[in-house]
Amino acid sequence: MHRPRRLRRTAGLRRMVQETVLSAADFIYPLFVMEGEGQKEAIPSMPDCFRYSLDLLLEEAKAASDLGIGAIALFPLIPDEQKDNAGTESYNPEGLIPRAVRSLKQAVPELLIITDVALDPYSSEGHDGIVENGRILNDETVAVLAKQALVQAEAGADFVAPSDMMDGRVGEIRKALDLAGWINVGILAYSAKYASAYYGPFRDALESAPKFGDKKTYQMDAANAREAIKEIELDIAEGADIIMVKPALAYLDIICRIKQHTHVPVAAYNVSGEYAMIKAAAQQGWIDEQTVMLETLTSIKRAGADMILTYFAKETALLLAANKKSGKAK
Ligand code: PBG
Repeated sequence: MHRPRRLRRTAGLRRMVQETVLSAADFIYPLFVMEGEGQKEAIPSMPDCFRYSLDLLLEEAKAASDLGIGAIALFPLIPDEQKDNAGTESYNPEGLIPRAVRSLKQAVPELLIITDVALDPYSSEGHDGIVENGRILNDETVAVLAKQALVQAEAGADFVAPSDMMDGRVGEIRKALDLAGWINVGILAYSAKYASAYYGPFRDALESAPKFGDKKTYQMDAANAREAIKEIELDIAEGADIIMVKPALAYLDIICRIKQHTHVPVAAYNVSGEYAMIKAAAQQGWIDEQTVMLETLTSIKRAGADMILTYFAKETALLLAANKKSGKAK
């Protein structure tokens, strides 16, 4: 008789045959930055996540790095008076993000910095592109994105990460970076990014919700899988070093397909709504937060993600370190 249970008998055995092992090095920690000093603002729809003023951001980044997290992804809270339709503030070399990148590179040089390329935090319309008569302009937006990426590269970003979903942006950004000599600045492309209601809490964090309509003319339809392959093929052809699937949980099949289809590293974004659901249920006492967190992140890695953007990065890294110390198997 076959007895698969033989391999599940003890914790040591289970550890030996474990196919997927989470580690702090898998994580990219998204962080929200705002102006000010000594301030840390709670985000109600994202418990335990904060918007940090620059000085406190450095501390949080250092703490993450000390736990073995190798990279952070930065997102800015931009005051309304700096927002306009063209997202002009997005390519201000003295803007919040370039200043944050310069300070981070000084304070925590070993930590990789990934900057978001998109207009929405800077847009008075709350869209990822320039709006004209209710439509999102593609090529005009791409021209601004290239300028934004350049400013971020100059500040010291290791990767720029276009999350806007405009057509042709990866190619134009690569061209602009190369022309300026930033040949070693990489592109992490949000390639299969779906029009998802799971982004709600993130938009609270940045006060960046669209002022009208939705993002369905540029982000993908949740119903489509083959189209994700088309998007990643285009981004790779245009020069993406790493491609991303976003959100992660409702799209594990997409992660799996893309992993089998391509040979570039695959990132997955465990987005704000996925985070909020776990936190909310745990606060009610309906699920065990730590166990569900580990199960969730393991499932994303098992599906094929080589790296995971997650607001749980620090909490998980802490837990993994504690478990290791106590010799406890997951
Ligand atoms: C926008 C952007 C979004 C997220 C990352 N970049 C939201 C959106 O497209 O509206 C969402 C991340 C999250 O929900 O955690 N460029």
